[in-house]
Amino acid sequence: MNTKYMQKDHNRSEGFIRDYPLYSYDEISSTNTVAKELSESGAEKGIVTALTQSAGRGRRERVWDSPEGGLWFSLFETVPENDIRKLSFFMNFGIILAAINTMKQYLDSDTLKVKWPNDIYASGKKLGGALLETFDGPAGKTVVTGVGLNTWNGSKENWTSLLDLGIEKVPNSEILEKFIENLNILREKLYDSPEELMAGWEKYDLFSGKTVKVKSSQGNFAGTVKGYSSRGALIISASSGGIRTIETGEVENVR
Ligand code: BTN
Repeated sequence: MNTKYMQKDHNRSEGFIRDYPLYSYDEISSTNTVAKELSESGAEKGIVTALTQSAGRGRRERVWDSPEGGLWFSLFETVPENDIRKLSFFMNFGIILAAINTMKQYLDSDTLKVKWPNDIYASGKKLGGALLETFDGPAGKTVVTGVGLNTWNGSKENWTSLLDLGIEKVPNSEILEKFIENLNILREKLYDSPEELMAGWEKYDLFSGKTVKVKSSQGNFAGTVKGYSSRGALIISASSGGIRTIETGEVENVR
């Protein structure tokens, strides 16, 4: 048990989900930040949840609004340096597929989509997203995967939530347990099969065959989405000609 947090945060309770130690807080800055700190003080893996985050973070240094009602959590795991690529890949794409498989229990699966690199959409609006961070830990590399799912929090323009979609309320703890169960199933089946994982992911792709605008280190350009590589890169047929493979970036729909 990590006494540092027991002394500092009276709002923490502990438990387990499957074989992950669970650290649940009322309010913290960010579950990703606390997951990093826990791993730095020796915890090898775990799940951190918070009812609210005072400094929730999204990708590209965006602020992630985290009011009470939503499901805000981070999974962390320390692995030897050699395994980091595989784990990061799985955590990026497996985590969003696990979110899809979990949301399928509440929403019609035809309404659910994935948006590269790691967002989940429902009925054309963002339902959630993931923020992956890696750190050098005392026993190897730590991968922290933060997941934000708009469950019972109100939402904003272009965002939706289970509440907005009229779903009957279930506790976030139940959704989290189902999520971890689904993640474990995917991990057992597809951890060593990146092509299959991407094929599963593509079934829900928001952009397949669509014309999109890409913002990446290769510049900003338009093109048509052709698919994904087995390493999770986006393959675009650029409007100006040629096929481009995008490892990191952002995509917006044009039509
Ligand atoms: C994105 O779509 O930009 C990713 C959002 C990730 C938000 C989650 S909420 C739990 C975890 N803690 C954070 O500060 N961020 C992630």
